[in-house]
Amino acid sequence: MNNDPVANNNKKTWSGRFSEPVSELVERYTASIRFDQRLAEYDIQGSLAHAQMLCQQGIISQDDLMAIQQGLSQIQQEIREHRFVWLQELEDVHLNIEKRLTALIGDAGKRLHTARSRNDQVATDIRLYLRTAIDDIISLLKAMQTALLNLAEQHITTVMPGFTHLQVAQPISFGHHLMAYFEMLKRDSERLIDCRKRVNQLPLGSAALAGTSYPINRELVAELLGFEGVCQNSLDAVSDRDFAIEFSACASLIMTHLSRLSEEFILWMNPSFGFIQLADRFCTGSSIMPQKKNPDVPELVRGKTGRIHGHLVALLTLMKAQPLAYNKDNQEDKEPLFDTVDTIIDTLRIYADMLSGVQVNQQAMRRAVLRGHATATDLADYLTKKGIPFRDAHEIVAKTVQYAEQKNCDLNDLELQDLQQFSQLIEADIVKILTPEGSMQSRNHTGGTAPSQVQAAIERARQWLTV
Ligand code: ARG
Repeated sequence: MNNDPVANNNKKTWSGRFSEPVSELVERYTASIRFDQRLAEYDIQGSLAHAQMLCQQGIISQDDLMAIQQGLSQIQQEIREHRFVWLQELEDVHLNIEKRLTALIGDAGKRLHTARSRNDQVATDIRLYLRTAIDDIISLLKAMQTALLNLAEQHITTVMPGFTHLQVAQPISFGHHLMAYFEMLKRDSERLIDCRKRVNQLPLGSAALAGTSYPINRELVAELLGFEGVCQNSLDAVSDRDFAIEFSACASLIMTHLSRLSEEFILWMNPSFGFIQLADRFCTGSSIMPQKKNPDVPELVRGKTGRIHGHLVALLTLMKAQPLAYNKDNQEDKEPLFDTVDTIIDTLRIYADMLSGVQVNQQAMRRAVLRGHATATDLADYLTKKGIPFRDAHEIVAKTVQYAEQKNCDLNDLELQDLQQFSQLIEADIVKILTPEGSMQSRNHTGGTAPSQVQAAIERARQWLTV
């Protein structure tokens, strides 16, 4: 009996130790090839670096190295051209590639796995994959931030109601509102940059769990693959997936932020708000109600957030009861991770495009500000600045608002004489203060909604984007 599981591809029995092959069901249950083939490019990169190190250390010959390089490059070609035949009985991406390599170059192919295990191999592949994904996501975040900035810049002085409890609170600049999301995405991007440092450490060399008896050079492999360092404990390196969990947490926050913005878009598109319109290409109609224009894309972003949060919980749960070191449980890390990356990438790409087509109805926004006594705080502040304790001022304004309600108008619509009934300290200068624009203008400090501050925030943001 052939002792080599890779050579024994038809109904593999692993080795002479096994007396019967796995059933078709078990084979399908345990195989990861359906989803881990997307690691192929990284698997080949890792193998090339490993082989080069083995040769440099005198563990394999120069001839073997050259054969491996040639064989892997042919395999890479076959995969890119979709000619590569993936076999479920070969379980995963690693064994599929190794088997093909051996078919192409013979014994040199079998030597590639010297001083290596699939345990450190797969951990390396995922880290390489995730590193690329993080870089892609960071640049997509920047593209979306740029789209936010462009829209914010057009609406520095556009006044809208700011809400708390979804009730009209105070007038704000629409640009300021958009810039809040810029800040969220900025932190998302910083979190990913930080996460990347821990992703970018090399597990290879840990072998199955304890390291290897060959004179390997892990630092060389790390350098060849662009890792910032090598994982410092072999057991930890092959077993923990905390870097994937951390990434998944970062992704969950990104989706949370996008979901919040989506929720606002959905509300603002409702005719009762009528603040914005999305371009038709992001909406659909109804098959029965001809008047409908549904914000499908933001709704799906909100909906897909559940899936990303679910993946985070799946990964945490996957890890929580595993004893050291590698366990097959870890094979379950891939689908949640891949789906997270795919969903985030698609969502960010769509969002940047969607933002560039947002139509803003400034009149509707202004009308909404004038319907909620949004400048009540400004009146209270005015009185306080004239010496009335804030709590008393609050009470005076509450009565004034009640009066406006009775007259069925906004606080801002009351005549000076009306206002003066409530306090003798109110003078003609109040008129400007109680306008939405006056109110917005007055919040003039770092982080405030005054247009000059929003302008400054946009300039800081542009600066941040260039570095
Ligand atoms: N397909 C496996 C995974 O995704 C590769 C590592 C398998 N290692 C093992 N000893 N069975 O985790």
